[in-house]
Amino acid sequence: MDTRELQQKFKDIYGVEPEYLYFAPGRVNLIGEHIDYNGGRVFPCALTFGTYLMAAKRLDSQVALASLNIPGTAEVGEDALGRKSGKWTDYPMGVMKEFVNRGYQPFGYNILYWGDIPNRAGLSSSASLEVVTAVFLNDMLKCGMSRVELVKLSQHAENDFVGMNCGIMDQFAVGMGSEGHAIALDCATLEYESVPLDIAGYKLVIANSNKHHDLVTSEYNTRRMQCEKALKILQERYPVANLCELDPVLLDEAAGLFEDEVLYRRVRHAVTENDRVNQAIRALRLGDLSRFGKLMNESHRSLKEDYEVTGVEMDTLAEEAQRLEGVLGARITGGGFGGCTVNLVRDDAVEGFVRQLGEIYRQRVGLHADFYIAGIGDGARRIY
Ligand code: GLA
Repeated sequence: MDTRELQQKFKDIYGVEPEYLYFAPGRVNLIGEHIDYNGGRVFPCALTFGTYLMAAKRLDSQVALASLNIPGTAEVGEDALGRKSGKWTDYPMGVMKEFVNRGYQPFGYNILYWGDIPNRAGLSSSASLEVVTAVFLNDMLKCGMSRVELVKLSQHAENDFVGMNCGIMDQFAVGMGSEGHAIALDCATLEYESVPLDIAGYKLVIANSNKHHDLVTSEYNTRRMQCEKALKILQERYPVANLCELDPVLLDEAAGLFEDEVLYRRVRHAVTENDRVNQAIRALRLGDLSRFGKLMNESHRSLKEDYEVTGVEMDTLAEEAQRLEGVLGARITGGGFGGCTVNLVRDDAVEGFVRQLGEIYRQRVGLHADFYIAGIGDGARRIY
């Protein structure tokens, strides 16, 4: 949908001209999964597709929220922020509540959202919705919060209001991404560096399993609890503040501390995944894409065997992709239990990749997969 169509829809719904337009992208994580909340290093980038927020001021102290993706509108005043509704509006409402908690009055707007990120596909449509709302309100209310503060505020909204105990990676990528770059983010310190994504001759192809990651909130929160338990056990012997601080050479020795083998596997994933991220960033800087791809494959295996967040759909997509000609690497991306894989595919092999993988996936799993060539874009911004 182009801006003119969006403006027309806004007028149809609210009967006035829109005054503001903002955008926040989705994200794809290249490597470093389920370690943002374990103090690890992650390597996501912002996509060119995302969420648009169009708005106009209104005179009362309500906020109207409407979406062109999901039917139904909500009128929200301060009283409504006391409880979540279980609908998509919880994301912007959670963000509004964070502004209220900081003493601001984020009311008096008609807002319309439209997004082209596939929903519940692990490409951060929710972080995108949160961050675009936070960036908009920060401007409207002249709060002067830095982008990183807005990123953290958005994460809190998701943790506290929505109830998904996510880490910082998604909101950070959505808020801080830059065109043609991936972000090497140290989640323990929030130090980051934008690394040019020099993959000439190759494309990042996203394969959407169309298996919605419905389990993600409950299983995600369980993984987090397991990691917290495992950290306490590790700390009996090692002076580590988080799982990713453990030196990989100590892994075998640390195994002896764990009676529960599941907890140990969670640790092994976190520690080896963090190591893979460091190696992958090094490989990318050296132009060694083949090494980068191998690390992606290993990441998938670890998420399947040690972290257990894949499932038959995602394993089929990733493992079959890894066997295809011209594919350097393939792995699940995002929280897991469905969603998307990310694949590093040689330019001239992309067409065959899409055709063959789509066919294999349909035969094995009975679902249709969608494919997108990932465009790597900038983080959230005002358009007008
Ligand atoms: C979800 C969360 C992120 C991160 C990923 C897994 O996308 O929102 O914080 O933990 O899962 O890497």
